Amino acid sequence: MSLQWFFVTGTDTDAGKTLVTSGLLALANGSGLRTAAVKPVAAGSMNSAAGFRNQDALLLQNHCSYRLSYDQVNPVALALPVAPHIAAAREQVELSAVKLIEHCREFDHLLIDVCFIEGAGGWRVPLNRNQMLSDVAIGLRCKVILVVGMRLGCLNHAVLTAEAIRRDGLCIAGWVANFLETEMPMVEENIATLRDLFDEPCLGIVPRLMKPTGQSVAPYLILPEQINSS
Ligand SMILES: Nc1ncnc2c1ncn2[C@@H]1O[C@H](COP(=O)(O)OP(=O)(O)OP(=O)(O)O)[C@@H](O)[C@H]1O
Ligand SMILES: [Mg+2]
Repeated sequence: MSLQWFFVTGTDTDAGKTLVTSGLLALANGSGLRTAAVKPVAAGSMNSAAGFRNQDALLLQNHCSYRLSYDQVNPVALALPVAPHIAAAREQVELSAVKLIEHCREFDHLLIDVCFIEGAGGWRVPLNRNQMLSDVAIGLRCKVILVVGMRLGCLNHAVLTAEAIRRDGLCIAGWVANFLETEMPMVEENIATLRDLFDEPCLGIVPRLMKPTGQSVAPYLILPEQINSS
């Protein structure tokens, strides 16, 4: 089986991409798959003796069954928790979609079945004047998983994001409705609307969890059928 690439995007920042990716990794590990993850660009990192470290990337690194170095998981760690291209300019780091794609392509030589890439923010995040983070997903021909952060306004964000992904020529492997807030009114109606709006499969309805971890979210998720059928 050749390495399958999935790109986990969200309707917005804090939609639940890291949580869902951790859960998908836990599920895939449980199925005996050799898993990896990449957070290509992380903005908001702590300085440590080993260099900048980002929480999302550390979490993903811990959930991979294949042992990856921090730098393999997160090639670009930026200090400032702001839009990546702004942090990069401040920190005199050059962001390049081509370089990030090349970085990921190295994984093709490893014994890995599936790799989940976590985006940053939403789908159309600028890397520089000419390139977007979505260009990395396009370059790798990723199947895309869309995490919908369930709050007022999310239907608009979900539809616009899906339109952009399809226009980019990529397949949406599925979507996840993630309930970040305890009290969202009209929960069932919102889920029903998403089911109507998307032809692609729902990969999970995640309630607000007391302890949000990869293990605790996994029972609410299923793996995309592309993984099972390969
Ligand atoms: N279903 C949930 N129940 C409880 N807490 C949640 C849930 N989903 C997400 N969270 C919490 O909300 C915060 C944001 O989630 P997460 O980090 O997964 O979002 P993200 O989309 O990866 O954000 P970013 O854009 O910063 O990468 C985290 O603290 C996470 O633990
Ligand atoms: Mg995240």
